[in-house]
Amino acid sequence: MSPASLTRRRFLQTSSAAGLSLALSSPGALLAQKSPSDTLNIALVGLGAQGRILMEALLKIPGIRFVAVCDIWEYARTYGERLLKRSGHPDVQAFENHQDMLAKVPTIDAVIVATSDDWHAPVTNDALRAGKHVYCEKMMSNTVEGARSMVRTMRETGKLLQIGHQRKSNPRYIFARSRLLQEAKLLGRVTGAQAQWNRAVAPDLGWPAKHVIPAETLARYGFPSMHQFRNWRWFKKHGGGPLSDLGAHQIDMFNWMLDALPTTVIGSGGLDYYKDRDWMDNAMLIYEYKLPTGTLRAFYQVQTTTSSGGGYFETFMGDQGTLKISENPRLTAVYREAAAPSWEDLVRRNFLSAQAAPPPAPASNTQVDARETAALAAYDIPIVLNKAIHQPHLENFFAAVKGQAKLNCPADEALRSEMTIYRAIEAVETNTRITFQPSDFEV
Ligand SMILES: NC(=O)c1ccc[n+]([C@@H]2O[C@H](COP(=O)([O-])OP(=O)(O)OC[C@H]3O[C@@H](n4cnc5c(N)ncnc54)[C@H](O)[C@@H]3O)[C@@H](O)[C@H]2O)c1
Repeated sequence: MSPASLTRRRFLQTSSAAGLSLALSSPGALLAQKSPSDTLNIALVGLGAQGRILMEALLKIPGIRFVAVCDIWEYARTYGERLLKRSGHPDVQAFENHQDMLAKVPTIDAVIVATSDDWHAPVTNDALRAGKHVYCEKMMSNTVEGARSMVRTMRETGKLLQIGHQRKSNPRYIFARSRLLQEAKLLGRVTGAQAQWNRAVAPDLGWPAKHVIPAETLARYGFPSMHQFRNWRWFKKHGGGPLSDLGAHQIDMFNWMLDALPTTVIGSGGLDYYKDRDWMDNAMLIYEYKLPTGTLRAFYQVQTTTSSGGGYFETFMGDQGTLKISENPRLTAVYREAAAPSWEDLVRRNFLSAQAAPPPAPASNTQVDARETAALAAYDIPIVLNKAIHQPHLENFFAAVKGQAKLNCPADEALRSEMTIYRAIEAVETNTRITFQPSDFEV
């Protein structure tokens, strides 16, 4: 068997195992009753920045027929409708209102939701109750109650609800978790974790002058102004701010990679740079996990005023090695502690590929190097994702709808993980140390 086919076979085994371990307790993750069919009729609600990225990925997935799009902004709606009609989906119908869409297009099998966070729960709950399966973007909602209502509706209707934490379907992440961390125990005892998403200063989002939404339409959907409609992430009525928006992915990775939920969280943050926004523009958190191997602290940072510090990644640190992983493969590396046993056998067995050794330090640095830490041997994860980063998660959703897979991120599992974000925001806002309670993770 060639190394490539071996890797693929291992990946298929590990990806189904990864989906299984976290999905077992989830009614929403049970296989759909629908018999397999070749083509699924889908609707996309929310055709903004992320809706378009999902649309591009969806267009590459066979067996999908777009039958409807929905967006309250005529500008975004028309863009999506035209692009889809040009791309082999001539029958797609466009709607301003999702309830109207659900009533008028009964053939929809599944709805993809990529609106601002405030509309996730209403659209998802209505779609589930109309008998549709739903893929909804993260965060589940801008309120805990909204998120819980989605899990309740998923359970009541028995329909599938996948949440868009797409790293859980990314073969590189799945491989790192199940093969490197869990099977090879490559890092030894994992004693720390760190993740960050640092972004440069960005001006407020604007809109084309000729595409202003009438005030009464905006008001009907809860937006007081075009400015707040476009910059919803920063306002409590619509979104959860950067900790929620970016932490959603990375704090979820702490929980998933460590296969645990934290026991406590403390944090600090503030709206220190921007004006006329609700949410803090920077924050730092420390979570404590009680793992079977001992206590682990995980540090999370989000900055919206500087992209320095290496961008965005998640790091898991152990006494034998460190895994630094990101959706950007160029920011990913695995480092072996100098005193750890050789990883040559793991390289031979295709768990890792060796990176070129770094050039030796200049002579004048030798002293510094001796006092501090020598450069560690670096390795790569030998798995390539040759698709758009959201595509495998959408594919997993459709496979589950067809009864061929389990969801990699069913809503009840997503809620447990997102609760560690909701409560961290509370810890920052109230300046308190929060101890998680079992009730936090119940619906
Ligand atoms: N998974 C990821 O990597 C990722 C990345 C970016 C954004 N997101 C998520 O995607 C969602 C959308 O983010 P975005 O950046 O595209 O925002 P956006 O503002 O660019 O787009 C949101 C769109 O939703 C539409 N909309 C708002 N309310 C609606 C309603 N009631 N019915 C129909 N349409 C409605 C708006 O008109 C707009 O076109 C958010 O939940 C965000 O957290 C996920």
